Amino acid sequence: MDNPDQLRDQLLAEIGDAADLDALERVRVEALGRSGRITGLMKALGQAAPEERRERGQALNALKDAVAAAIETRKAALEDAALDARLAVESVDVTLPVRPEAEGRIHPISQTIDEMVAIFCEMGFSVAEGPHIETDFNNFTALNIPPEHPARQEHDTFYLPEKEDGSRLVLRTHTSPVQIRTMIDMAPPIRIIVPGRTFRADYDATHSPMFHQIEGLVVDETTHMGHLKGCLIDFCAAFFGVDDLPTRFRPSFFPFTEPSAEMDIGCTREGGGLTIGAGADWLEILGCGMVHPKVLENCGIDPARYQGFAFGLGIERAAMLKYGIPDLRTFYESDLRWLKHYGFVPLDVPTVAGGL
Ligand code: PHE
Repeated sequence: MDNPDQLRDQLLAEIGDAADLDALERVRVEALGRSGRITGLMKALGQAAPEERRERGQALNALKDAVAAAIETRKAALEDAALDARLAVESVDVTLPVRPEAEGRIHPISQTIDEMVAIFCEMGFSVAEGPHIETDFNNFTALNIPPEHPARQEHDTFYLPEKEDGSRLVLRTHTSPVQIRTMIDMAPPIRIIVPGRTFRADYDATHSPMFHQIEGLVVDETTHMGHLKGCLIDFCAAFFGVDDLPTRFRPSFFPFTEPSAEMDIGCTREGGGLTIGAGADWLEILGCGMVHPKVLENCGIDPARYQGFAFGLGIERAAMLKYGIPDLRTFYESDLRWLKHYGFVPLDVPTVAGGL
């Protein structure tokens, strides 16, 4: 039978000599495995004389613990050495050029919305949203466009199939129904902008069946036309980056505003291209007006106490003017060459202070 002291010296020497983790594992199996030498001695303990068993048992347990501890220590040392060896050969060359990854671009519509939101939020507006599928009431009736009103035809509305009660939902033809939702939901003061998708059955170089608008609504006790003009003049100057941008307001008509106006900005077409700023020409940029008292009333707001202004403009049109994009349809063609040309680098987040 193995002598525990001799066996310990022999095993500890073998553990010390194990050159790698595989060799160490072989020593462990040889000593402590199911048919290992220490395991064999422990199994044989049953045959020892009862008076010997206790003492020998203790000695074997001590042997087993000493060998297991030595294996653990050696294992940690071998693992450290293996790691050091890897670190020595696997260095990273930080001077190598980066792999050519294709960098994405922000679509001009997203960029334009972000820019507009940045300008209006700085003025104290918050962003509101509404669904694309609207009730006839929110899209038309509450906005003072009754069923027989000619404006309904002008909107080239997409209707959903008629319901059993004869009513029809619509794809919203403008962002104005969100004015209604907001005024029904909250009491004045109200100061919101509403960027979002809108839908009209129309398709050519300047019209698409799906396009984007941004709506603005301000309602308070003393809101007047001077606020409307100041707000929109400041907005256009900031958006187009022209401090003394010439502007003019022409009388117009919308069923939901009274008085109504269209706002033009100065431009010149000299030299073939279009330049926004001082010049001989004017470009229509948005529709606006004082919220019609009937619209306030339809939303449960007392027109004797409150008044407001509203405006709406096409986002694609504004982006086309600002960034010189000639055809509206290209916005939706998902042509990566177009996006690379007209898109924006993701890390340039628009801020008014940063000059957008
Ligand atoms: N909703 C109008 C349109 O789509 C724009 C507008 C909004 C005009 C708010 C006045 C006030 O043409």
